[in-house]
Amino acid sequence: MSPSPARFALTFVAGLIATSNVLAVPSADPCAKISGQPFVVPSDALACLKSFPFNRTLQDNVMTVVSGVFDFFTFEDWYFTSPPPFQESTSNIPAQLTKIKRTTYKTDYDFNRDLYDFTTQLNDGHTRYFPNCYTTFQNLLPAPVVTLEENGVQNVFIVPDLVEFIPLLGTAFTSFFDKIGFNWQRLAGAKVLEIEGVDAYAYADKIASTASGNYLDHGVRVNSVFSSYRISANDFSQRFGDIAGPAFPDKDTLTMKIIAVNSTKAETVKIPFLANYLGSPFTDKASFWDANCAANEETNGVDLRSSASLRGQVKRAKAEIVDKDPGSAVGLPGPFIPNLPPASGNSGVIKSFILPGNKTGVMFVGSFGGDFNLFQTDTVASIQKFKQSGVTRLIIDLTNNGGGFVCLGQFLHQYLAGAKIGYPGFQTTSRANPLAQKILASDIALGNNDFITFYSSDNWAFLNDTQMPLGFNYNDPSVSFKINGRNDPESIRFHDICTPFSVPVPDDPPFDLSNVVIVGNADCASTCAMFSTLMFERHQTKIAIFGGKPGLPMEYKGMAGNQVLEWSDLDTEIKTAGVKDDPLAPPDLLVNSNMRHNWRIAWSFLNENNPIAYQSERPQFRFPYTKDTYNNPQNLWLFAESKLFP
Ligand SMILES: *[C@@H]1O[C@H](CO)[C@@H](O)[C@H](O)[C@H]1NC(C)=O
Ligand SMILES: *[C@@H]1O[C@H](CO)[C@@H](O)[C@H](O)[C@H]1NC(C)=O
Ligand SMILES: *[C@@H]1O[C@H](CO)[C@@H](O)[C@H](O)[C@H]1NC(C)=O
Ligand SMILES: *[C@@H]1O[C@H](CO)[C@@H](O)[C@H](O)[C@H]1NC(C)=O
Repeated sequence: MSPSPARFALTFVAGLIATSNVLAVPSADPCAKISGQPFVVPSDALACLKSFPFNRTLQDNVMTVVSGVFDFFTFEDWYFTSPPPFQESTSNIPAQLTKIKRTTYKTDYDFNRDLYDFTTQLNDGHTRYFPNCYTTFQNLLPAPVVTLEENGVQNVFIVPDLVEFIPLLGTAFTSFFDKIGFNWQRLAGAKVLEIEGVDAYAYADKIASTASGNYLDHGVRVNSVFSSYRISANDFSQRFGDIAGPAFPDKDTLTMKIIAVNSTKAETVKIPFLANYLGSPFTDKASFWDANCAANEETNGVDLRSSASLRGQVKRAKAEIVDKDPGSAVGLPGPFIPNLPPASGNSGVIKSFILPGNKTGVMFVGSFGGDFNLFQTDTVASIQKFKQSGVTRLIIDLTNNGGGFVCLGQFLHQYLAGAKIGYPGFQTTSRANPLAQKILASDIALGNNDFITFYSSDNWAFLNDTQMPLGFNYNDPSVSFKINGRNDPESIRFHDICTPFSVPVPDDPPFDLSNVVIVGNADCASTCAMFSTLMFERHQTKIAIFGGKPGLPMEYKGMAGNQVLEWSDLDTEIKTAGVKDDPLAPPDLLVNSNMRHNWRIAWSFLNENNPIAYQSERPQFRFPYTKDTYNNPQNLWLFAESKLFP
């Protein structure tokens, strides 16, 4: 057992918690106790969340909406037996929903948490229940972890840049640890042997199975438990990872067995979490409920037939995941931000650079969201600059790209492949369930168009890329489809309409496509997964994936659905079609929650009976992260250049 510092810290924290329990006046209002504080002890946060009684009316309301949404979820029937290698996600969704509907819970939190965990473990980032009331406290550990290779061997480590990274959370965070005398700084770069009494990689697997969600492939989820770089809010950022930044204040501490840098001895350290409040201001229980839990103007949909002002433009399809990992405010520490001159404006989600020697350009595409037109003009500016500088090879970094506009994925693919390739996307379908049939029939009867609905036919094109005429019913007759022995009637197959884009697209590829490569951590979701699948399936683009669990195979992409509808989007479709009174239509939600779902399938080019979500595709290259690359995009690109363009 170790020398004193860790043990001192451990005893001290335990002592402090005990003392505060003794001193705490048992409060009738556990929310009042923590109001106005950005960071609080997790068990205090949990006490506030658990102070709202279980309410059968709210449970019935939420479950009616959630069950109604699942009728539209494209993969519901696929889950009965998820195809390999995705078996881990297999679930009898209707049976699980019935069970949750019939359970009597201790508190409203417990009900919401059970439903949250159930949808999270479906591992489809498009299809999740978010109780905004209860995702208000994010637990943060001053010891995010990564898997790194050192001398040919991979191990889990506490991030080596800990001392640069943690202070970016501000003194409101760090002063707590100063006050209790917990020296987190000395943990920087420590080797982690065990977490919570099990092997560090086994713990990573456990979090990947139970808490990470979002990605069907287990191997891909393993990468999201670790810390990594990303673009967030248009800036370089460092993600905590799901081990050190879980979405709920479940634990006050995390116990690790580590070997500190410059030590050879293993020691056990109990590291305190601190919960970061991310919700709206409150002073007590009642105002916490009003601010975070009661349904608000954005919870449910609206009838757009009556909102003339909203009819400004065609609705744009989105496909993205919701990453609740904190620290959209936490940047990447300065020393690790690329210092090459930018190759374009770099003010949006794309950061472009030219590597020394002027042979290789890099586009770090942090998402397909943000400003729809800026994404396109930044692409043009980057590629022009690359061409002017004599660049002939392109690295596209898709690390932690959570998706965005469906048409921006198609845009980037077509820009790189040249307009001559024609339609740049996939065949797609939605489910033709009885309510979907009624919505579309009613839209047709009312003359609703693509300015106010996603269901109306003028949103889509036939497979010959002619826009469907307004009033065409693509759900009637429906197309029969059978999966896992169940009949799952669908729409006819159709194409997205993304062209013309906002900028001219070159007829021919700007670079020889064999000189375009993709790098990333496979946490590439939604539109990102569609883009990388287009590149892989149509051009055999080389993909290099970093990280993951040593020895465990992984896919190169995460969640590859197609268009996502939030609950409010689906409810808007229902209301705008005038069918809210139909017995099949779910009621308005009474609480501030969201049940989003994957509304359309993208079918693989390689097997048009298989959704790309279930088309197992592995990267041609796997590399471990090292202490020089895990948080340093520029170092990673230089490494990739040397390996992929030998
Ligand atoms: C349960 O919630 C409903 C809807 O908000 C409310 O009207 C009712 O008073 C609540 N019941 C209890 C026992 O709090
Ligand atoms: C480890 O030892 C080296 C050499 O003495 C020193 O420069 C470094 O700061 C030490 N690191 C830690 C975390 O103590
Ligand atoms: C790369 O391009 C820059 C700017 O055009 C130029 O200053 C530099 O000399 C070039 N480097 C090489 C190795 O060609
Ligand atoms: C495209 O396909 C649709 C549906 O099959 C058909 O009605 C239409 O005439 C076709 N358009 C062209 C230009 O071929």
